[in-house]
Amino acid sequence: MRYNRVTPEIVERLRRIVGDGYVITSPGDLERYGIDEIEERYRRPPEVVVKPRTPEEIAAIMKLANEYRIPVTPRGAGTGLSGGAVPIHGGIVVSLERMNEILEIDVDNMMVTVEPGVVLADMMRAVEAKGLFYPVDVSTLESCHVGGNVAENAGGARAVKYGVTGHWVYGLEIVTPTGKIVRLGGKRIKDVTGYNLVQLVVGSEGTLGIVTKITFRLTIKPKCVLDLLVPFDTLDNAVAQVNKLFREEHGLAAIEFMDDLSIRAAERYCNTVLPHDDCEAHLLIQVDGMKEGEVWRAAERVYHAVVEGGAKEVFVADNRITREKLWRARRNIAEALKALNNYISVEDIVVPRSRIPEMARRLRELSRAHDIEVPLYGHIGDGNLHPTPVSGDRDEETWVRDLEAFLVDMFKAVRELGGNITAEHGIGFKRVKYLPLALDEVEIELMKAIKRAWDPNGILNPGKAVPLGP
Ligand code: LAC
Ligand code: ZN
Repeated sequence: MRYNRVTPEIVERLRRIVGDGYVITSPGDLERYGIDEIEERYRRPPEVVVKPRTPEEIAAIMKLANEYRIPVTPRGAGTGLSGGAVPIHGGIVVSLERMNEILEIDVDNMMVTVEPGVVLADMMRAVEAKGLFYPVDVSTLESCHVGGNVAENAGGARAVKYGVTGHWVYGLEIVTPTGKIVRLGGKRIKDVTGYNLVQLVVGSEGTLGIVTKITFRLTIKPKCVLDLLVPFDTLDNAVAQVNKLFREEHGLAAIEFMDDLSIRAAERYCNTVLPHDDCEAHLLIQVDGMKEGEVWRAAERVYHAVVEGGAKEVFVADNRITREKLWRARRNIAEALKALNNYISVEDIVVPRSRIPEMARRLRELSRAHDIEVPLYGHIGDGNLHPTPVSGDRDEETWVRDLEAFLVDMFKAVRELGGNITAEHGIGFKRVKYLPLALDEVEIELMKAIKRAWDPNGILNPGKAVPLGP
C-alpha cells in the first residue's frame, strides 16, 4: 500500500475544514506529535497536525485523506506505551485535545457522556461530585485522555474488582475510516441487537474509527477504602500470596506488586521513602466497600493471610495522605525507570494468575541469561506484570539487539504459560512484529479482514494493532 505526501494544497483544504489556527506545520511543533511514551527511537513526526472540534470536521478530514490516500493517526494525550499515537508513515495527526467536554452526567441512568479529550481524573472527579464513581484507575490518570483509554482498552490497578475500560463503555460515537459518523450502543444495559461493534472498537487502537463521544456506565462510590502496604523479604513469598488472597477475600479492589528495583527507582524519582525498601518485594493491596466495619474486617483477613505467608509487616493507609503517598510511588514507577536509565522497554505481559510464581522465576532466569536487569512491578492481581528491561551502560545499537533477544525469549515463556504479550498497553507499533507469536494465524487473518472492510484504503492508523500496510 502506497501513501501520498501532504501537499500545500491539502494543508490549505485542512485549514478550511478546522480553521487556520488549528493546523500545525512548523517542524519544531510537528516533532512533539511524533512520539508518545514509548522509546525515543520510535519517534516519527507527522507532516501536519490538525485539531478538529467536531465529528463533522473529522469526517471531512477522513474523506479528504481517502481522496488523496494520506495516513491519519488519531492522538489523545500521548501517554500510550506501545506507539499507538506515533504517525509511523507521516501524514496527518488528528489531535483530539480540543474535544474535551463532559457533555452529560445522567444520574438516573448512572452514565456519563464525554468527548475523547477529557482527562480521566477530571471525569472521575466530576462524576464523584454527583455521588457516582468511575472505577478504572490508570497510572497516568491525571494526564491521559479517556479517548486513549478506550482506544487501548486501558486496565490499571482496580481491574481486579471492577474490570477494564471496555467493561464500562456502553455507547460510542465514531467517525469511520471512510468519514461516516455513526453512533454505536447507547444507554442500554442490555442490548444484543447486532454484532457488538462497541466492544470491537474498544481496544482497536484507533484503527477502526476515531472516537468522538463515549458513554460510560458508572457505579456508586465505595464509602470506605483501605490500602495495605505489605513488604516481603523474598519475592517468591510475595508472589505466592496472590491466589491465596483471592480465595480468602472477595472484596479485593487491587493487588499491586513492586520489586526492590522498582521501589527504589520510584523513591528516588518521587523523593520519598517507603517502609522496608530493603525488602525484595512489596504488595499494595486495596480493599473497599460500602460498610466501614466490613472493609476493616476484610483488611484483617488480608492481614492474617499475608502474615502467615511471611509478610514482614503490614502498613495500613486509611487516610488520603498516606494513601496518596503510596499510590504516587506506585504510579510513577514507569516514569521513574525512564528518567533514571538511558534506555528501557516497558513490557506488559499477562499470565493466568496461577502461573505468576512460575513467570516470576522465568523472568529471573531470563534476566540472568541475557545479563539484563529487569525491574518488575505491575497489577499482579490480574496476572499482569510490567517487566521493564533496562539498558545499563549498553550503547543504543547493542541495547536494541540484546533487548530483542530477551523479548523473544520472554514472549515464548509467556505463551508457554498460557499468557500473552500485552494486557493493557496494546500492540501498537511496538509489538506488531510479535503478533505471530501471540495469536493464531486464523485470528490474525480475521483481524486483517475486519480492518480491510472498515478501512479499504488502509489510511487510519496503519501499521498498528494488525500487521497491514506498506
Ligand atoms: C503502570 C503502567 C505502566 O501500571 O501501566 O504503571
Ligand atoms: Zn499498568
